Amino acid sequence: MARRSDTAGLAPRKATLALLHGVIFDGQLMPELIAAGALADLAPEDRARAQRLTLDVLRNLDRIDRLLKPRLQKIPPLAVRNALRLGVMELADGGSAHGVVNAMVELVSARKRTSAYKGLTNAILRRVAESIADDWAKQADPKLPNWLRQPMVAAWGRADVAKIESVQAQTPPLDLTPKQDTAELAQSLGGIVLPTGSVRLADAGQVTALAGYDDGTWWVQDAAAALPVRLLGDVAGLSVLDLCAAPGGKTLQLAAGGATVTAVDVSETRAVRLRENLARTQLRADVQVSDAFLVSGQWDAIVLDAPCSATGTMRRHPDLPWAKDGSEFGVLIDQQARMLDHALTLLKPGGRLVFCTCSLLPDEGEVQVEEALERHPDLRVDTPEIPGVDPAWRTSEGGIRLRPDYWSDQGGMDGFYMAVIHKG
Ligand SMILES: C[S@@+](CC[C@H](N)C(=O)[O-])C[C@H]1O[C@@H](n2cnc3c(N)ncnc32)[C@H](O)[C@@H]1O
Repeated sequence: MARRSDTAGLAPRKATLALLHGVIFDGQLMPELIAAGALADLAPEDRARAQRLTLDVLRNLDRIDRLLKPRLQKIPPLAVRNALRLGVMELADGGSAHGVVNAMVELVSARKRTSAYKGLTNAILRRVAESIADDWAKQADPKLPNWLRQPMVAAWGRADVAKIESVQAQTPPLDLTPKQDTAELAQSLGGIVLPTGSVRLADAGQVTALAGYDDGTWWVQDAAAALPVRLLGDVAGLSVLDLCAAPGGKTLQLAAGGATVTAVDVSETRAVRLRENLARTQLRADVQVSDAFLVSGQWDAIVLDAPCSATGTMRRHPDLPWAKDGSEFGVLIDQQARMLDHALTLLKPGGRLVFCTCSLLPDEGEVQVEEALERHPDLRVDTPEIPGVDPAWRTSEGGIRLRPDYWSDQGGMDGFYMAVIHKG
């Protein structure tokens, strides 16, 4: 039976508070919480609303907290703080003061642990509502948490991190990779063609409702994520190994380009999504669920999109800075180096390997390639000319560094690093 949407709006707000708690307190990412059933009881429109509200709060968390701080004499428990945060976000977004305050007071009253804070919730949100438009406009862009801000300032400097934060504060556009005709796709969906060949939609709405979704004439892929495969040029007739392949954006590009693709991923669940994406786009690849370290064979070309901190994808996943704390960096950096070394054993002499990560940290990008060149004297880095790639994005070891603040007037791009390594 289809669930009916909650007209008073309490159900999606309650689910939002549960998601915020899962991210901020339990350190879980939103997709994990949703896969575990966090939104299972909601009607589709309430599910969409809860996701949007959660993303809005997390994207603006620092700005919201700065606005609340002078109004709080003592920091209340996290569950109350999250209700206040959600209330501020909704008010800032133009929600009616009466409706937002009542809903938050009701949600806080409904739980034994928080019911004592219903007066405080009412008083604070009423006061916030009086001047929210001015107060919100006066706040500077939300800052990233320190565990991430510090290494980013060390890598890019304060001024550039501020530019990145400014892009992070905006809801990103949707980028598509066309299977065939780029101009036709842009025209049919009212998008623009980006200099590197992706199609960008400013306000896409529901992805599955867009024309061409069912026919598989395109797939969702950030413009930055679409570049690593473009670095290989014409792949028709080549055997290509996509070593960390799911959910498959790069596999689809390789298959659409006429390569014979072996797509490997360690995660069975993610491999299911990869197979679904291949089926929808009517493209072919040999999908294998395996640990990359157990793969053997020889390929003309390899794409290694190594597991990383994913810090480059934060504008699409604002839960990440609040769920993580940087404690995984060391393990990931070590794994990337070992995976790159193993991948190089799978490359035919004369073959090319694209190493890439969706990270904003040089230790997961530039430094990995610099160190690999030191470990393997038979390697060199190719620097192919790619339409739309700004020469300023080139790095000293020959790679390409992409950051969210590039193309900021058009909505930015994900942070990414990529380099083409040539063997022999
Ligand atoms: C950055 S994502 C890949 C995104 C993908 N290339 C795309 O374009 O859609 C990294 C992937 O590496 C996979 N992975 C992590 N450790 C792995 C391992 N040891 N062997 C194979 N795959 C692994 C993860 O399951 C995840 O799907």
